[in-house]
Amino acid sequence: MTFEEIKRPVKQDIELFESTFKESMKTQVSLLDLITRYIVKRKGKQMRPLFVFLSAGLHSNTNEHTQRAAALIELLHTATLVHDDVVDDSNLRRGFFSINALWKNKAAVLVGDFLLSKGMLLALENKEYDLLEIVSYATKQMSEGELLQIEKARRLDIDESVYFDVIKMKTASLIASCCAAGAASAGASEEEVMLMRNFGENVGIAFQIRDDLFDFEKDNKTGKPSGGDIKEKKMTLPLIYTLNKMGAVERKKTILDIKYRSTKRATIDKIIGLVNNSGGIKYTNEKMKEYLNNAIKMLNYYPDSEYKESLIALVNYSINRNK
Ligand code: IPE
Ligand code: IPE
Ligand code: MG
Ligand code: MG
Repeated sequence: MTFEEIKRPVKQDIELFESTFKESMKTQVSLLDLITRYIVKRKGKQMRPLFVFLSAGLHSNTNEHTQRAAALIELLHTATLVHDDVVDDSNLRRGFFSINALWKNKAAVLVGDFLLSKGMLLALENKEYDLLEIVSYATKQMSEGELLQIEKARRLDIDESVYFDVIKMKTASLIASCCAAGAASAGASEEEVMLMRNFGENVGIAFQIRDDLFDFEKDNKTGKPSGGDIKEKKMTLPLIYTLNKMGAVERKKTILDIKYRSTKRATIDKIIGLVNNSGGIKYTNEKMKEYLNNAIKMLNYYPDSEYKESLIALVNYSINRNK
């Protein structure tokens, strides 16, 4: 299934979403308006709204609650990307200059806050407290995940289990919320909402592993710089595996390279080479598939439908995508 085919059952929802989303960013402050228009023009894949809509469709019809959930979550996602590029000191997003690259960190921090609060208000103004609860929890976890990652980048002592803690918090928590909020918006039972949250968490883990693999692909098509994680001393699964396979001396040397020379292109290329030769990519791919299979199995509970078919295809797309 192509990405376009995956969207088919919820095509109308997506169209409506695009306009709500754009509308929700409106502001009287002209600098802010300029920046939000820049953001809307360079939209991403919008996979999270798709998870919301398909998760709702799996249970019954999508409705205005589903729309609100999708808009809130994409606003929140956009806010975290704007902040994340400040945190990661990254100049490129979706193939264009990032907000911090164009308007500096000061503006980017405030734009991120604006988007986050606009999202929360969307739910609050409509008294959608269930949705707020689902999403506030994820927001908290995302900040914790990013901070845990900073802590580990300073100490350079991350291991596999902490890596999974980080990606669960910083990425999987929001995708879990998409699926939970989508299901809840369509009147799913508490057990079903829980099942969908769990499903989303597994997809989210696989999704972030795919993202981390992009960092080791020199000519990736993501519109984000490759090697950016290494530059920021973010040690992800392929590198963690590679370090574990090394002898003590080589490991120490590599850690020192990361500690003192991670911004040099020569260091980044050397580490990408080491990871490619160690089997780290293969190992990481296998782990990614484990989470993908866990997720797909969870959908066995549901009868076949076009929504289920699309959802399964979207899960596969999460790891097979090239951007
Ligand atoms: C990027 O998410 C941030 C991660 C959690 C890896 P996406 O890859 O969904 O970003 P866009 O919205 O499509 O640009
Ligand atoms: C995802 O991590 C961060 C968020 C949860 C926003 P990354 O730092 O790997 O995301 P990209 O690669 O910059 O999109
Ligand atoms: Mg980043
Ligand atoms: Mg990344």
